[in-house]
Amino acid sequence: MSMRTQYCGLVTEALLGQTVSLCGWVHRRRDHGGVIFIDLRDREGLVQVVCDPDRAEMFAVAEGVRNEYCVRVSGLVRARPAGTENAGLNSGKIEVLCHELEVLNPSITPPFQLDDDNLSETTRLTHRVLDLRRPQMQQNLRLRYRVAMEVRKYLDAQGFIDIETPMLTKSTPEGARDYLVPSRVNPGHFFALPQSPQLFKQMLMVANFDRYYQITKCFRDEDLRADRQPEFTQIDCETSFLGEQEIRDLFETMIRTVFRNTMNVDLGDSIPVMKYEEAMRRFGSDKPDLRVKLEFTELTDAMQDVEFKVFSTPANTKDGRVAALRVPHGGELSRGDIDSYTDFVKIYGAKGLAWIKVNEVAKGRDGLQSPIVKNLHDAAVATILERTGAQDGDIIFFAADRAKVVNDSLGALRLKIGHSDFGVEKGLSEQAWRPLWVVDFPMFEYDEENSRWVAAHHPFTSPKDEHVDYLEADPGRCLAKAYDMVLNGWEIGGGSVRIHREEIQSKVFRAMKIGAEEARDKFGFLLDALQYGAPPHGGIAFGLDRIVTMMAGADSIRDVIAFPKTQRAQCLLTQAPSEVDEKQLRELHIRLRTQEPAKTV
Ligand code: AMO
Ligand code: AMP
Repeated sequence: MSMRTQYCGLVTEALLGQTVSLCGWVHRRRDHGGVIFIDLRDREGLVQVVCDPDRAEMFAVAEGVRNEYCVRVSGLVRARPAGTENAGLNSGKIEVLCHELEVLNPSITPPFQLDDDNLSETTRLTHRVLDLRRPQMQQNLRLRYRVAMEVRKYLDAQGFIDIETPMLTKSTPEGARDYLVPSRVNPGHFFALPQSPQLFKQMLMVANFDRYYQITKCFRDEDLRADRQPEFTQIDCETSFLGEQEIRDLFETMIRTVFRNTMNVDLGDSIPVMKYEEAMRRFGSDKPDLRVKLEFTELTDAMQDVEFKVFSTPANTKDGRVAALRVPHGGELSRGDIDSYTDFVKIYGAKGLAWIKVNEVAKGRDGLQSPIVKNLHDAAVATILERTGAQDGDIIFFAADRAKVVNDSLGALRLKIGHSDFGVEKGLSEQAWRPLWVVDFPMFEYDEENSRWVAAHHPFTSPKDEHVDYLEADPGRCLAKAYDMVLNGWEIGGGSVRIHREEIQSKVFRAMKIGAEEARDKFGFLLDALQYGAPPHGGIAFGLDRIVTMMAGADSIRDVIAFPKTQRAQCLLTQAPSEVDEKQLRELHIRLRTQEPAKTV
């Protein structure tokens, strides 16, 4: 008989009466005085193995096995006695009566129980190999594989080909810090690990590959969060001779197909499209979570002449904003709740959180309870009630500050309330998949620190045709042919139509005060390529880790990456990054600033 005839988790009543041979790990061993039960686990799940003492040799082995021993079992598949079936297991109707038990390899005592749901992330990442044996992690990584397979199938059918691009390359402008790799043979010179294959995929378009994709690692040295890793995986795509709408259609179908085929989820016939400006106005975010029903109300124009300085000052300041968030049934929130929300918005820079409880809207001012209405004239109060559509029992929260602070703080409050127990109970959010395209992003963001415009997406993104003149005249007004795909508040993908004409590219560099020499030094190879009849082209990159995290219902992208880094960009399993030998450093022509000069030097 071969070492294994079946997977444990796939032994079902279809095999009743047959002898099977199984290999796996001892998930649990229970000694029922005279009979030993082993739950044997492999990739496909668990099966119950029964070891009777009448086979003395086998039984002696069973007495010795412990959790996580790797064993081989051969035995007879038989029905479980009535009343002992386990509906939670695929193999729950049967058990395997053990004939032979062989220890393939014992295990030292694991540092934790694999079915412990309260493990710290440090424990899990330090002992990642055991952590990965847990069914949830097995499911997550298999889901990840299925998503990647579906992506490949779809793109292959659409004529895309997978082309690898270098990992040792030159800095690419995605806006994060680079990971650098020193060159031994070129003293003082460094490669950068790619932040994305952006420039290479554009050159592949110039090189007539027409449709390219790659599922590839990208490296960004940035501050890490639950949805960010220093190395992460993009589904990176580029195509020639398609316009913005066609590109979006192509990739929207990809995402819909992947969700249908891996999750049996229907994302709807077409994904709604929202302009960046509208997203910011209504939700204070360029990646709004549409599961939450709450929306901002614009009040800036209506608060310019109120006595309340907290509102009138930003209302009269360029880049200031006053906005409200009406929360239906929010009248039920306690002072304690309001105080904790006030502390919460301070994380985002807000100086306070004004509020009005609407007890009886018909009574106007007298029907309101609030620390601020006394400072607002009648017309302002009326406008607030009217624009927010206030109903009896609501609370209205206010943010007044620089637009960025208002958007960040009220936007975060919107999510916090919407997803709170209160919000769920009152129907302020729903359980659903709510994808969205956000389009018409600005070309540039203003970098206050360096007093210059920087690319909002990346500097190869095309401006809207009708906005080309703004490049020099008024960069802040210039919109881009850029788009993000957003799902439940996460940016899962982003891309753009690219600039394919050298003269537009030069204008964009000029708008960003990147001189001809600097442009040549950094991206000369791309600029050169653009001059050989570069085709109109564009593309997108999706964050594979993020998509799978959302599908798996995991909290962090670390749960769908086999060997992730911590928030401090460390690998607890391998202890990377780590110090290296002085000899290695010397070969690389590197001397550490903190390091004592080596004695021999
Ligand atoms: P962008 O920088 O928007 O675009 O990245 C594309 C997508 O990659 C994911 N992503 C990340 N996921 C995990 N950890 C990170 N640190 C991280 N950073 C980004 C996001 C994001 O939407 N070259 C362009 C694409 C293009 O224009 O075609 C680019 O890289 O889901
Ligand atoms: P004060 O006049 O400072 O007592 O503030 C009155 C109310 O306005 C309090 O509820 C504060 O939390 C709130 N508040 C203060 N600053 C702001 C702000 N920038 N935006 C919104 N509310 C604020």
